[in-house]
Amino acid sequence: MNVDQRARAGLQFLGSLQVFSSTELQQQAEEDFAESDEAPGLTQEFQTDADRDAWLERLAQAREVVERSPAFRFNRLYQRYVAEENWVRAITGVERRREMFAKVAPTPPPKGDPRLHLNPDLEMPEYYQGVEWHLQPGGLDGYDLSAAMAFSGFIPYVFARGGFAAVAVGDNLLQQRRDVIQQFRSDSLKRIYDPGCGGSGTLGLCRERFPEAELIGGDLSAQVLINGLKFSDKTGIPVELWQEDARHTAQADGSVDGVISYALHHELPPEVSFDVLKEMFRILEPGGEMVISDPPPFRAVGPFQAVMLDWETENRSEPYFTEAGIFNLAQAMSEIGFVDVEEYPLQETCYPWVTRGRKP
Ligand SMILES: C[S@@+](CC[C@H](N)C(=O)[O-])C[C@H]1O[C@@H](n2cnc3c(N)ncnc32)[C@H](O)[C@@H]1O
Repeated sequence: MNVDQRARAGLQFLGSLQVFSSTELQQQAEEDFAESDEAPGLTQEFQTDADRDAWLERLAQAREVVERSPAFRFNRLYQRYVAEENWVRAITGVERRREMFAKVAPTPPPKGDPRLHLNPDLEMPEYYQGVEWHLQPGGLDGYDLSAAMAFSGFIPYVFARGGFAAVAVGDNLLQQRRDVIQQFRSDSLKRIYDPGCGGSGTLGLCRERFPEAELIGGDLSAQVLINGLKFSDKTGIPVELWQEDARHTAQADGSVDGVISYALHHELPPEVSFDVLKEMFRILEPGGEMVISDPPPFRAVGPFQAVMLDWETENRSEPYFTEAGIFNLAQAMSEIGFVDVEEYPLQETCYPWVTRGRKP
């Protein structure tokens, strides 16, 4: 089951443009920056942490230098073009075969199904309302055939090729998730919770390492959870999904021994990130572990990469990317009471960036 040739060709073109932009153009832009008079000083400055105002000032200075490069300006033009146009190509491709895709579209299970707890009365937090994340028209709940749009549309032809935000060209997105799951110290987790679980793909991969574990996920979006349940049916990996805010989950105190959080915190304002960490601390049992993967903070990368990450905020509808780059997840975990807190990259590109800790 696929989108038609016209849509595939358009999406393949976009995927290739993104790869070109994120390899040759990006490399040229990085060289241009490295040759600037300001590069050594800025690079040194970025190696120490700073308060929010100082980071904003540093980013503004670095952006001014990086943007002098014509290669960078073309690179960003193509990034933005692909980011916008991939929805256009994927949605029109799905629409031309609406009847076919509609027959297999995930639908909500009957009320009372213990695998999916939808909450139509859940009030969406203010920071989330009306955001068209990643420029997705209508946001995460804005398109009834979103599963087809993703799995037959932009994922295989654009997303999977990498070269956007913190993801490098050629990165294996599934393997990155597996590598992050390997960061749990325990080999025998029994009950794992995933805040902001999306379509439950990361939870599903937890099954490979923890075949006996109960897998529970929560997300604000009903549509992604409905898609996640269908994914669970297809893979035969049982999950229990809750439409809930990760700051106030339905999970009892000390009821899980593992929390996996993948690509959530860059979508949260810092105070929400902090409250999510507190809630995860509450639901973890003593000795339980939390493993987080998100794009790296600015203090972990050089000025050039920081400018690229910061660009996401204004240009790929990621309203909290800048704030998340400044926020110190490891420090927040320690303040809340987690111990053995560590943060480190899994690759030279600093992505995936892992922060992990344990409840004493
Ligand atoms: C970038 S997606 C990542 C999804 C998934 N973790 C993955 O790696 O594929 C972020 C998800 O977080 C969800 N989200 C954002 N704020 C949330 C909150 N306060 N509580 C629960 N989910 C939230 C969004 O709806 C979205 O599905």
